[in-house]
Amino acid sequence: MRILSAKDYEQMSRKAADILSAQIILKPDSVLGLATGSSPVGTYQLLIDRYRRGELDFSRCRTVNLDEYVGLDDSSDQSYAYFMRKNLFDQINIDPANTHIPSGINPDTDGECSRYDALIRSLGGIDLQLLGIGNNGHIGFNEPDDCFAKGTHQIRLAEATIQANKRFFAKEEDVPRFAYTMGIRDIMQAGRVLMIASGARKAAIVKEAFFGPVTPRVPASILQLHKDFTLVADEAALSAL
Ligand code: GLP
Repeated sequence: MRILSAKDYEQMSRKAADILSAQIILKPDSVLGLATGSSPVGTYQLLIDRYRRGELDFSRCRTVNLDEYVGLDDSSDQSYAYFMRKNLFDQINIDPANTHIPSGINPDTDGECSRYDALIRSLGGIDLQLLGIGNNGHIGFNEPDDCFAKGTHQIRLAEATIQANKRFFAKEEDVPRFAYTMGIRDIMQAGRVLMIASGARKAAIVKEAFFGPVTPRVPASILQLHKDFTLVADEAALSAL
């Protein structure tokens, strides 16, 4: 486990964008595992800037996103598919056919989960997985549980997650209660894992996840066991250490 400290959100985003850029330059057909939320927006903007300056080429990259809300189709402006198009895909030269996100509207839950796991396998696995962290330690939408979930699965969002994510919706009732998420096995099998964390509201969970015991009650804690895990966090997120 490597921890890189950054002064603030902007510097955290720059350090994360540097790691992602190096991955894309060294392996132009990389499989990138991507995340949503507020944390990666600055990182994605820097990747867009570098693409516009001719420093990055996404034409051979493939992407798999961590998760999607159940019940939202990809045209819904609250869906993670929409988020990814708006914050990254529509502004770089990636082939939309090479971007993958679980389908929130597939009513066949088992079918969607096995389709997504088979897709990740068919791409040869994830080279670099980008992650944020939920206030309760969730990664993707792997919520605190009694055991670590393996593959892609459908979960009921924890109350803490509904509370944290309601800021993106007009009202709390609009927050979907279920989501599809890659499992812990999918994330742990990635060649490299890069987590970004910013702000004082992440300080307690960063300490618990990476300086406490490895437990499914704090899903991110399993990353302590990953062979190539880097946390890039700003001073506020590291302030409890
Ligand atoms: C959501 C996403 C996670 C993300 C988390 C933290 O629940 N499913 O992938 O890491 O929120 O989001 P933020 O970066 O906005 O704090």
